[in-house]
Amino acid sequence: MTECNHTNLIEIMSQFSNVSEAGKDEIPSFNGSEKAKASDFANYFCSYSQIFHQKQMLSDTIRMASYHSAIVGNPDCFKDKIVMDVGTGSGILAVWAALAGARKVYAIEYTDMAKNAEQVMKANGVDHIVTVVQGAVEDIKLPEGTEGNVDVIISEWMGYFLLRESMLDSLIRARDKYLKPKEGLMFPSHCDMFWAPVHDKEDRFQIQQEYHGSMGDWEEFVESTKQTYGVDMKCLEGNYEKEQNEYYLLSSKWSELPSEALLAEPVCVKSFDMATCTIEDSKGILGADSAPFQFACESDATLEVSGFAGWFTSDFRSRSDPEGKDAAPKVDNPVVLTTAPGPYTHWGQQVFYFKSPIMLLSGEKTEIEGNIEMMRSKDNARLYNVKVTHESRRMNKTSGVVMNKNPKLEQVYQMP
Ligand SMILES: C[S@@+](CC[C@H](N)C(=O)[O-])C[C@H]1O[C@@H](n2cnc3c(N)ncnc32)[C@H](O)[C@@H]1O
Repeated sequence: MTECNHTNLIEIMSQFSNVSEAGKDEIPSFNGSEKAKASDFANYFCSYSQIFHQKQMLSDTIRMASYHSAIVGNPDCFKDKIVMDVGTGSGILAVWAALAGARKVYAIEYTDMAKNAEQVMKANGVDHIVTVVQGAVEDIKLPEGTEGNVDVIISEWMGYFLLRESMLDSLIRARDKYLKPKEGLMFPSHCDMFWAPVHDKEDRFQIQQEYHGSMGDWEEFVESTKQTYGVDMKCLEGNYEKEQNEYYLLSSKWSELPSEALLAEPVCVKSFDMATCTIEDSKGILGADSAPFQFACESDATLEVSGFAGWFTSDFRSRSDPEGKDAAPKVDNPVVLTTAPGPYTHWGQQVFYFKSPIMLLSGEKTEIEGNIEMMRSKDNARLYNVKVTHESRRMNKTSGVVMNKNPKLEQVYQMP
């Protein structure tokens, strides 16, 4: 972790300049040029057109069981209703909506996976209820009268640490165009982002090793390139170091943490009410919104805090917003999908490792406080950067005497 001195501030600012400017952070599937759309397809949609990738999601039992219970376990929300599945993929949520009693299901899918979804509808005898529509949900044309008349929107749109992939934008546009404003239900209905300090010494150490390993042969490489080919590459050393530093030490990592890795009660850093959240909300955790956190950690033995982890939960419950809470049907059997440390989900957790760990010592309490901001990457509106600011102090558990204080540190991580 770098200290926030003058030199580092310059570095931080230059990293932070790699964020979206207002108005330039639309995802290309909406309103993009043909070139931008094509590259969005190549980078983002392409994997969703493979059954292999859909199968990975279909094999995530926590994800599947949560959506299955939420849809099939709440038939009153679906019986005789018009449903839209935003990003139907292989079509499984649309099949469940039909089995739960929906009168009509529009299953929207941008990629060629739509053709497979059609087969799934036929094979499961629901093709008279489900219409698969291939296209971006922002562009498709549905029969007259559908706008503002959909009873339930189901979608599995969530990315790593909830927002990565930025599919939420598409969902919000679909909601605003098609969902009944007061009586309509969003499945999931509420999503929360969580943040906590974690212990994961092995992975933190391994990343450091990989970084040093990658830097280790630089001098030899420069020397041998000069000797063999007569060209001096030493001038690239600074840029190479920056690149490797960003790749290894300033990028969050996907991790499957056990619940014991948690070192304090997690805090919710952002909540989304799916009935009312806005495109602005989907841009991250910004400025005045920046989320403060305060943790108190204790351990019986010496233990390191290796970094922070971020994850999310998605709820399927009744509407709570003023406009919909009395007007919309109740969700009688609420369900919570959690991606917290513990049982496996394909989302896992994003871990933001420290360069130097914070130590927990026996007989002491360590307080860590700070805040996070999250903003879209300038180069790719589907990716985010996370700025973490924190300071910590250790104190005697009984007397409260402060034993050590770590100054405020600020770090910007990419979420690859
Ligand atoms: C995470 S997958 C979920 C697939 C499926 N609903 C399931 O639960 O197994 C999201 C799907 O949404 C599709 N998608 C993303 N953005 C879209 C958009 N703007 N319009 C239509 N489909 C979209 C992707 O191609 C992908 O197949």
